[in-house]
Formats: sequence, structure tokens, C-alpha cells
Amino acid sequence: MSMTAEPIVEAVGLTVDFASAKGPIRAVSGVDLSLKPGETLALLGESGSGKSVSLRALMRLHPSSAKIGGSVRVDGRDVLAMSARELSAYRGKIVSMIFQDPGLAFDPVYRIGDQIAEAVMRHERVSRAEARKRALELFERVRIPSPERRLDNYPHEMSGGMRQRAMIALALACRPKVLLADEPTTALDATVQIQVLLLLRELQREFGLAIVFVTHDVGVAVEIADRIAVMYAGRIVESGPCADVIRNAAHPYTRGLLSSRSHGALGKDERLKAIPGSPPDLAAPPPGCAFGPRCESFAEVCGSAMPDNVVVSSSHIARCVRLAIRNSSQPGG
Ligand SMILES: Nc1ncnc2c1ncn2[C@@H]1O[C@H](COP(=O)(O)OP(=O)(O)OP(=O)(O)O)[C@@H](O)[C@H]1O
Ligand SMILES: [Mg+2]
Repeated sequence: MSMTAEPIVEAVGLTVDFASAKGPIRAVSGVDLSLKPGETLALLGESGSGKSVSLRALMRLHPSSAKIGGSVRVDGRDVLAMSARELSAYRGKIVSMIFQDPGLAFDPVYRIGDQIAEAVMRHERVSRAEARKRALELFERVRIPSPERRLDNYPHEMSGGMRQRAMIALALACRPKVLLADEPTTALDATVQIQVLLLLRELQREFGLAIVFVTHDVGVAVEIADRIAVMYAGRIVESGPCADVIRNAAHPYTRGLLSSRSHGALGKDERLKAIPGSPPDLAAPPPGCAFGPRCESFAEVCGSAMPDNVVVSSSHIARCVRLAIRNSSQPGG
């Protein structure tokens, strides 16, 4: 990874609004993301924090009723200004996604190899035979046994782990520059999970892919990421280099996540679940800090002031009102 490269993904002030039965909800609220080629960002957070919605926004994959705001630039293009035609050239080719729900990736009625070949032919002027050859190479790369025969499988004929590999093959079929991986290993057992993570790392080195990797699992994040962003109630509440965030977590939510994990090895279900209370109702968020009602360090000011980003150290930032107060009371701070 080159430290001087320009970001390939740059989202600034990203917002996603939905209409819900209880009124409008802001599922993603002022998210900033920046990613260089070859870099991996892990997006961490509890269920409902806005991880999948953020990723889909980077691909403009939302129902038309949703409103996306802010700015998203990928590979020099303004994604939010793209026409339908530009979008279909962009999706799969520049940015590709491994979906959280494997059911969404493949059409049950077509053979998997044909679906991968179709994806290649949609973006490149290649013959069916060449596209098929690409699909076969990808199956070999993701180490699907008997790849030639497996290309003719229908989705239901593959096991979960095998389908996950096929999904990675599909996502990489058009040699994208950015891979959005939404919990690509959650459904797998521990051994397969590690194999898939190692595989992604290998492919990343080979292709210089930038990866956004969504996970609930701190162990997985540590294993794969250069940087970590922690989401809570639609906001990134802390982000920075992986080691800094893990060793020197500044936000009480991040600290809660880290202390709540079990201490098993990678893949031994280091799930994030033990912070008491539950995330806010996005249709009626609490005033001030959204984490306030669950925060161990809650102070009166947290119930009224909206936390801003506070610099912890160079590229490590956290959104916490008390942190801001502490910093400003330090001499020279
Ligand atoms: N199409 C939609 N219409 C209305 N609300 C939605 C829609 N999609 C998502 N949401 C809401 O947006 C919020 C964030 O959802 P999102 O799927 O991004 O969570 P997540 O962090 O990916 O959670 P998980 O870890 O469970 O996958 C949730 O409150 C969800 O109910
Ligand atoms: Mg999700």
C-alpha cells in the first residue's frame, strides 16, 4: 500500500434518509470515509448501526424512496451524480459488493458459472468462451474444488462455504478497484472463515483492491484491517489505524465493544453483544449524544451537546463531548 496514493473512495458527510411508519429516519448520518488503493477499512458496530446502508449508498443501491446526501467520490467520479447508464458501468466494474445475504448474489434458476460469465460480458467485450475461462480461473483462485464441474452448479447445489467463495469470485469477476464486503464470513464456520479471510488478503495484495469490510467481530477486524471505523446509530463514533483504536480506544462505545468481546482466538465467536441497553430508535433519537443513555461516563452535557469529532492522535478521531471537554481543559490542548 502506497502511503501517498490519492484516496480511491472518499465519502464526505454521507447521509441516508428513509421514510418509515414512525416517520423519517436518518439511518446514516454524516459519515466520512476515505480509502486508498490496497487499503482495508473495517466497519464495526452493532446490528442496525447503519453499516449495510452505508455500503449500499456507495453503490447507490437504495430504493428510490431513500434519499442519499453528502458527497461520494470513487475513482475520481461523483457517484451521486451518475446517470443510470453510468451507474451500470460503475457497479461491478469499479466497485463490487459481497452481500450480507448470499441469497441476493445469485439467481437460483441459472448455473453459477453462467452468471459469472454474464457479469464479465456485461462490462467487457469478450466472447462467451473467454468469459467462461475467466470464471474458471476465478473458481481456481478462490479454491473451489473441481472448479470446471462446479461452474455448472446451480446455487442450491453448493454448500454455504462454497457459495461464499463463488460470491467472492463473482464480486471479483470484472477486476474491480474497490470491494465492499458485507459480513462475508459471518455465516461460515471458523475454519472456513479463516480460509476466506486469508484468501481475501491474498487477492487484495495481488489486485491492489481497496476493501471495506463490515463485521461484528473485533477479532476479524484486527486480522484484516489497516483502519477501523466504529459505527453507532448511523454515525462513525471512532476511527483510526487499527492498532490505535484497539489499544487506545477513546470512545466509551468502542471501549464497551472491546471489553465485551470474549477472548477466544480468531473465529471463536468474538461477538459484540454485552453492552447493556439497546441502540436508540432512529425515528426518535435521544437529544445530544446517541450513545448517552447507555454510556458509563454519561454527564449532563452529553444529553444536550451534539458530539463533534475530536482528534485523539493524528488520524485517530472520536466523537465524544466529554473527550472534547477534557482536551480543551488541558494546557495547550
Ligand atoms: N429500506 C429501508 N427502509 C427503511 N429503513 C431501513 C431500510 N434499510 C435499512 N433501514 C434501517 O436502517 C438502519 C440501519 O440498517 P443497516 O442494515 O445498515 O444496519 P447494519 O449495521 O448493517 O446491521 P446488521 O449488523 O444487523 O447487518 C436500521 O434501523 C434499519 O432498520
Ligand atoms: Mg448489515
